[in-house]
Amino acid sequence: MKRTLRGILSYLAPYKALFVVGQIAMLVGTAAGLAFPWMVRNVFDVLFQPQRMNALLIAIGGLAAVSVAGEFANFIKNRALGHLGQKMIRDLRANIYERLLHLSLDYYDNQNSGDITSSMTNDMAMLQQGLSSGLTYILQQALSLMAVVALLFSMDAVLTLIVLATLPIILVISQKMGAKVKAIAKSTQERLGYLMNILNQSISGMSVIQAFVLENYARGLFRDENDRILDKSIANIKVTTTAGLLIGLLNALFLLVVIGIGALRVAGGYLTPADLIAFILYAEMVAGPVAALSGIYIEINKALAAYQRIVAILETPAEVVNRPTRALERVQGHVEFRDVTFSYDEEKPILKNISFSIAPGETVALVGPSGAGKSTLAKLLPRFYDPDGGAILLDGVDIRDLDVHFLRQQIAIVPQETYLFGMSIRDNIACGQPEASTEAIERAARLANADGFIRELDHGYGTEIGERGARLSGGQRQRLAIARAFLKDPRILILDEATSALDTHAERQIQSALDTLRHDRTTLIIAHRLSTIKNADKIVVLKDGGILAIGTHADLVETCPFYRDLYQKQFALHEVG
Ligand SMILES: Nc1ncnc2c1ncn2[C@@H]1O[C@H](COP(=O)(O)OP(=O)(O)OP(=O)(O)O)[C@@H](O)[C@H]1O
Ligand SMILES: [Mg+2]
Repeated sequence: MKRTLRGILSYLAPYKALFVVGQIAMLVGTAAGLAFPWMVRNVFDVLFQPQRMNALLIAIGGLAAVSVAGEFANFIKNRALGHLGQKMIRDLRANIYERLLHLSLDYYDNQNSGDITSSMTNDMAMLQQGLSSGLTYILQQALSLMAVVALLFSMDAVLTLIVLATLPIILVISQKMGAKVKAIAKSTQERLGYLMNILNQSISGMSVIQAFVLENYARGLFRDENDRILDKSIANIKVTTTAGLLIGLLNALFLLVVIGIGALRVAGGYLTPADLIAFILYAEMVAGPVAALSGIYIEINKALAAYQRIVAILETPAEVVNRPTRALERVQGHVEFRDVTFSYDEEKPILKNISFSIAPGETVALVGPSGAGKSTLAKLLPRFYDPDGGAILLDGVDIRDLDVHFLRQQIAIVPQETYLFGMSIRDNIACGQPEASTEAIERAARLANADGFIRELDHGYGTEIGERGARLSGGQRQRLAIARAFLKDPRILILDEATSALDTHAERQIQSALDTLRHDRTTLIIAHRLSTIKNADKIVVLKDGGILAIGTHADLVETCPFYRDLYQKQFALHEVG
């Protein structure tokens, strides 16, 4: 709790000035609010006395001044604290996004995007609401409560004690309701996360849903979750409205008691009628803050729960830490895997004692059955994951000692499946190099054999593509990925050859583009094509996460029966088909 508050306060720190202005305006507004009943009392006091026009005018003038001052003070307070709250939320959002950019891929392996989206939207909204009511009201209500109680005592102690006796009831009821609301809000939030997941997955997988005629199934999943949220939300409404009703009734009862007993006190001569009017107005200012404070209590509890979910993201440690201690002037491109072991979870080792090296400019092909760990091995080089044992060296330096961004700048990856962003073809090729010139982009596209098809598109390089590149064929997407790599012009290349067979023409275009790309670069290629393994300087045969053999194609066919088998089943066949 203390830590949570300190966390929230740290977001407030940069906006001290706004906070101070808001608090001062709040104090002025509170003082005006407190003075208001007293001014009303003065007006009536004059009325109950022999007519004195001047005194009446002064009293009404005072009332007007207090009212106007109070309104303006509230206006300033709301502006200042409103801005403050929004700025804090903006910073928090930025920090979350920053953390998401930092987190390693293992986080995303285990995370549903819906949970993150839901935190960014719903939790933020809740926090924002809690912040503004928290910042605005708590102090104000607490202050005016204390001042009012003091004033009431000075007017009529007996009546005040009766008023105060009802307060604990209101407080207890509000607290109970608050706890209930908090629990329901939490589970509603989780449910909303599930719903977002269903939605996100439906959008990404719509082609599968429609191809397999899964509409009914998907509809059912969505409807069940949607209905569950409705149940939770209705439960939430029930609790809050019941709380509202109870508090309203108590409030009415409270007023009745004050007026009834107050009338008796006036009749008994303990209180003037003007005092009673002021007393009633002040008494309302007791019940108001108590109810408001408990309402805020609910809001703040919701906000705290939201903040804790947000902090959970912010405090997730990144597995891959960037602590550079060495720098490379010029990268030659010598890559060495030295006794590398790796597992995604502690239990199941994926890579075992992997040792091999790639000389600068050399091409090494990785072959092995599906699930052998080829892609995993390739992911270690750009440090998407760090090995559990052993080390990977670039030009003799452990890659963990290099700046991770520098390291990744040296590597281009052409993955099995190309992810395209929902922007123009040009921007997709430039991919993070906004300074890339049009000539450079088009040159990269030409080298990737992509220029031709791009020019045939409606808007050429300016053609916008859907998020998932839906408007492009598989081969076209791959050539864009290759163009990205050409533009990046790195020392090291990682290719995960697509397993999906393309027609011979497309295949040949991609093949020749890749051959040009590989030229003079250190290349680690996960091979699915015969031509690739035949052209490789060295082939590493992976089986069950271990290296079975290393050699050229000719060597391995001679010496490694497993390779010969694999070659006959996987590669020779693929080439025929
Ligand atoms: N993110 C992950 N979390 C946990 N386990 C994983 C993850 N990715 C892959 N694995 C597991 O690691 C093993 C190796 O997977 P990998 O993708 O490296 O195989 P591969 O050799 O590239 O196979 P393929 O030829 O089919 O692409 C598999 O058993 C797979 O289930
Ligand atoms: Mg793979």
